[in-house]
Amino acid sequence: MNKLVKYLLSLIILIKILTETSEIIPKSLQNKIFFEALLDRFELVYENKEKFEWNVKIRKINKTRSILGYVIIKTSLGNEIVEEIKSLKKQGGEYRYMAYKINKTPFCKLNGEDLIFYPDFAKSSDFPQDIIEKCPLQPGNYSLRGIQFSLKNLPKVVVPSGDYCAESTFYDGDEKILVYRIYITHNKTNEIFFEAILDRFELIHEDKKSFEWKIKIRKVNKTRMIVGTLNLKVPLGNEIVEEILSLKKQGGEYRYMAYKVKKTPFCKLNGEDKFFYPDFARGSDFPSNLIENCPLQPENYTLHGVNLMLENIPKVVVPSGDYCAESNFYNGTEKILTYRIYATINQI
Ligand SMILES: *[C@@H]1O[C@H](CO)[C@@H](O)[C@H](O)[C@H]1NC(C)=O
Ligand SMILES: *[C@@H]1O[C@H](CO)[C@@H](O)[C@H](O)[C@H]1NC(C)=O
Ligand SMILES: *[C@@H]1O[C@H](CO)[C@@H](O)[C@H](O)[C@H]1NC(C)=O
Ligand SMILES: *[C@@H]1O[C@H](CO)[C@@H](O)[C@H](O)[C@H]1NC(C)=O
Ligand SMILES: *[C@@H]1O[C@H](CO)[C@@H](O)[C@H](O)[C@H]1NC(C)=O
Ligand SMILES: *[C@@H]1O[C@H](CO)[C@@H](O)[C@H](O)[C@H]1NC(C)=O
Repeated sequence: MNKLVKYLLSLIILIKILTETSEIIPKSLQNKIFFEALLDRFELVYENKEKFEWNVKIRKINKTRSILGYVIIKTSLGNEIVEEIKSLKKQGGEYRYMAYKINKTPFCKLNGEDLIFYPDFAKSSDFPQDIIEKCPLQPGNYSLRGIQFSLKNLPKVVVPSGDYCAESTFYDGDEKILVYRIYITHNKTNEIFFEAILDRFELIHEDKKSFEWKIKIRKVNKTRMIVGTLNLKVPLGNEIVEEILSLKKQGGEYRYMAYKVKKTPFCKLNGEDKFFYPDFARGSDFPSNLIENCPLQPENYTLHGVNLMLENIPKVVVPSGDYCAESNFYNGTEKILTYRIYATINQI
């Protein structure tokens, strides 16, 4: 079989694997691709030398890793040859087979109907663009001149980062005539897939001996931000523990979700938080280094416009919806503060 075919198959497998292990991206996101497949290496596991000779490598060309080499096909190859593709993912240091596979399919049909990999494959090689019309492939020396995958027609999915492998096996009747593997790495994690639009702030309970909060969410410079004041009357340090619960609107009502931050000393929790506290400090006169400035001294703090940039948020796709974070502060067993921040999450 052609290397081309093999590569294609591998890629297809990878795609399928990815699709299987991924969350399906909603329509609003469908013009974006969330992963890049970095070609890693090509491994020829077995070839029947009466039928072909594969000489293929993955190399960096013009800063991009591409498939290079040639395949000598010694007998004509048509749909009597079937190809099967299995998927593997590296787990605990080892590549393990995953559930996703493509069952044995006639090779011209499989590659001819593939719109994701085969077109790129044929563009930079001697393999025919229309492999269905040109089936069976004739004996010859087919060169691969730096094949890269644009993934233009790839299903729009979010794929967990990791090392993947597609294993392609060709059969002539019951005889295995070729086995190759293509390894790829996927580690694209630098995008934010949602925006949080602040909605409202609700003060449910405060111990007026400790503080007085006057907070609202307002449009400032076209962006909804947290503005207001905190009149802190006593030092606020690590003897106070904070717990954060999450809620999501379901069937018209906010309901608690499993995700929560357990009771944690206040300066530690906020000082180590890389997601929200930095934005909070930037838009207020709270100290940017809360751990060094613990306990927070009694003072009037102003929030002149806290905007959540979410720059360091884990790169996840969050279902659109109405969410709420509920924060509870405890002084010993006494609850001294409960507030909620409501936000709407939209996918970008
Ligand atoms: C096949 O073509 C490649 C160049 O594309 C060449 O290096 C190689 O020697 C050729 N092999 C044969 C057997 O003709
Ligand atoms: C690499 O870049 C050079 C110059 O930009 C170009 O001529 C050449 O075709 C490129 N090679 C491949 C394999 O894309
Ligand atoms: C992703 O892969 C590139 C290229 O191998 C590497 O330089 C980079 O550090 C990787 N990023 C992560 C987050 O693993
Ligand atoms: C916590 O309780 C102690 C003892 O009642 C009190 O002195 C302190 O001000 C309280 N701290 C806060 C932040 O309410
Ligand atoms: C904070 O402001 C209130 C009025 O809003 C005032 O009574 C109080 O003295 C101020 N506290 C400090 C520490 O400046
Ligand atoms: C709003 O925009 C003005 C002018 O660009 C700027 O001076 C001000 O700091 C902005 N306010 C906030 C809270 O970002």
